[in-house]
Amino acid sequence: MISLKTNYLGLTLNSPLIVGSSGLTNSLENIIDFEKQGAGAVVLKSLFEEQILNEVHHTMGQSEYTNQYPEALDYISNYSRDNNIDAYLRLISDCKKSVSIPIIASINCASATEWMTYATKIQEAGADALELNIYIMPSDPDRTSIKNEKVYFDVLEGVLKHVKIPVAVKLSPYFAGLAETTRKLSWAGAKGLVLFNRFYSPDIDINTFRLSATHIFSTPDDIYHPLRWVALLSGNLHCDIAASTGVHDAEGMIKMLLAGAKSVEVVSTVYKNGHGRIAEMLAGLEAWMAMHGFGKPSDFIGKMSHKKTDNPVAYERVQFMKHYAGIE
Ligand SMILES: Cc1cc2nc3c(=O)[nH]c(=O)nc-3n(C[C@H](O)[C@H](O)[C@H](O)COP(=O)(O)O)c2cc1C
Repeated sequence: MISLKTNYLGLTLNSPLIVGSSGLTNSLENIIDFEKQGAGAVVLKSLFEEQILNEVHHTMGQSEYTNQYPEALDYISNYSRDNNIDAYLRLISDCKKSVSIPIIASINCASATEWMTYATKIQEAGADALELNIYIMPSDPDRTSIKNEKVYFDVLEGVLKHVKIPVAVKLSPYFAGLAETTRKLSWAGAKGLVLFNRFYSPDIDINTFRLSATHIFSTPDDIYHPLRWVALLSGNLHCDIAASTGVHDAEGMIKMLLAGAKSVEVVSTVYKNGHGRIAEMLAGLEAWMAMHGFGKPSDFIGKMSHKKTDNPVAYERVQFMKHYAGIE
């Protein structure tokens, strides 16, 4: 008898497949269907610190009235912010009434400031865990990497003072010392690390001389970078890893689990192939487990990690040598 049950962040998931933070998880209707398809959990669309502040500034900028009555500024600013947050908190509590899979809330943040109180509200609304989507664009040449990295720890430690639910940190791969930073984050109390977020990237239109966005969705080829890092880090952290980026099918999910991820977060493949992709991927996982005699995910999670594989050097090799690439 095969069971897909697994543990992530101390939570029991019915399967290792999590629907990642995106517009997909911004509606109760979708989340109910994701549970039916077999998803082990969902990460809600991030509550964006930036988005909230933009909305506040936008509302304020449009009003003559607020220029004349500065106290109205404070009122509108609080109203816009709370309204946004109210809808988010309502979604969490509605989900908790309608589904039994864990609901992981998400906050996009770049500073350890007032938004930390939102974390408390999220816990009170019933979220089972919180994913912190942190990214600091290291574009200021006068700011050291130490200063940038400190923000990640300040945010994590600040949030941990406010909540008891498990907290995961979703990271970018852009750290000078990724292995050291991730290990320190796990020591600092992160119960999970999500490797990695995929960001908006600008592109240049060479005819209109305008900037545009590159592809929003990942492709299956995007899996290799996170796969390497999941494998390299999984044996060295004091917390779980969820793999994100490029997991599009059962094969991709199995690779990430073999590398050491406790769960995978999928987004692009669900956008591209519909909700049914979740059930399809889980059926593929179950068939593969049956073929290889595995009864549960913990039988093979990490089997091909850097620590356990008989060829760990392959994860560290970066240069295409003729011998390995097979191309002259
Ligand atoms: C339309 C869209 C919206 C997203 N919104 C968020 C978000 O609010 N918060 C977040 O942490 N990640 C967000 N992401 C990133 C995804 O959660 C995920 O990390 C990324 O798409 C890579 O996974 P994938 O290859 O399965 O798509 C978004 C991605 C897409 C495509």
